[in-house]
Amino acid sequence: MTDGSVHVEFRGVSKRYGETVQAVRQLDLEIMRGEFLTLLGPSGSGKTTALMMLAGFEDATEGEILVDGRRIDNVPANRRGIGMVFQNYALFPHMTVAENLAFPLEVRKLGRGEVADRVRNVLDMVQLPGFGNRRPAQLSGGQQQRIAVARALIFEPKLVLMDEPLGALDKQLREQMQFEIKDIHARLGVTFVYVTHDQTEALTMSDRIAVFSAGRIQQLSTPRELYERPQASFVASFVGENNRMAGTVEAVDADGGLSVRLDDGGGRLGAMSYGRSFPPGARVLLSVRPERIALVQDGASAPNEVAATVLQSVYVGDHLRLIAGAANGQKFIVKLASTPSLPTPEPGAAIRLGWRREDCLALDP
Ligand SMILES: Nc1ncnc2c1ncn2[C@@H]1O[C@H](COP(=O)(O)OP(=O)(O)OP(=O)(O)O)[C@@H](O)[C@H]1O
Ligand SMILES: [Mg+2]
Repeated sequence: MTDGSVHVEFRGVSKRYGETVQAVRQLDLEIMRGEFLTLLGPSGSGKTTALMMLAGFEDATEGEILVDGRRIDNVPANRRGIGMVFQNYALFPHMTVAENLAFPLEVRKLGRGEVADRVRNVLDMVQLPGFGNRRPAQLSGGQQQRIAVARALIFEPKLVLMDEPLGALDKQLREQMQFEIKDIHARLGVTFVYVTHDQTEALTMSDRIAVFSAGRIQQLSTPRELYERPQASFVASFVGENNRMAGTVEAVDADGGLSVRLDDGGGRLGAMSYGRSFPPGARVLLSVRPERIALVQDGASAPNEVAATVLQSVYVGDHLRLIAGAANGQKFIVKLASTPSLPTPEPGAAIRLGWRREDCLALDP
């Protein structure tokens, strides 16, 4: 819940590393008090750099950053009162959970009774009461992550930064933690700035999402606006439903296109890496949007083709939603524009799915 006032402001902030790397370019961004704002974008787009400048671990090359209307350039990181969670939990392995949690408080010279109270409260908050005497190695990945969240919150910061905090967790735990963090945010009412490259995570958790690409914000919107009204093709391709196929790079064309052998005899597809570099032998995840897949008519062909069987066919008003299965077990979601003349493929029908190589994006697995 935001009260409508600006908490954090980036004004024309740029960051260069050396002569060549421009990590953040002319960033203008207002973050509202109490907001859950997510920086979403591909690898190398400048999300961490933006967060590190706000936290005080990197200096801006140009521009200014304001918190509560005051420039913070000259305030050292440990005086900014900002809670942080990093991707690698960064718990101290030789300390117990309770000692890890107490650390930010001892730095701030709180009394022993107060420290013990807060440690207990924050362990309750992340639903790990009684875990104070364990060491990090005696916790699961998800539990360690919750302790890292607890440690960022224990000194009651008004601003909390989280950089890919769930990156190392499996899908189920990730989804559970997404709701737990969202719930903590709602209860505390403080400002969260969250970094992820996972669009589903961003859509699930955020009040607003800033989509980063190459050091710039491409779009700043609510999750709904972002999905319904992408303003750039980059955003459209980054946010939305995807069909994903695992495979191995066989060859790299002169134009950067990849020839990818799908797992489990799924055939070979052409894909684009769009700037990411995948040498032959690299594992990739291919991604194609449901609405970019078409049915290949008899006698026609498509650059990428997969033979499949219709499993389910649902009329959804503006489109027809097909679930189709390939011989290797790969399932596809396909959205076909619904026109009166379109024959409806029935379950059990043999079809060919086709799409362009340009619509087939190669991602890191
Ligand atoms: N200390 C550094 N020295 C030089 N270049 C750096 C440094 N840190 C980051 N960069 C470069 O700055 C750019 C932005 O990096 P940044 O870490 O902010 O990206 P990111 O959006 O967090 O990416 P990821 O999703 O991979 O974490 C990249 O091109 C990166 O290589
Ligand atoms: Mg990063």
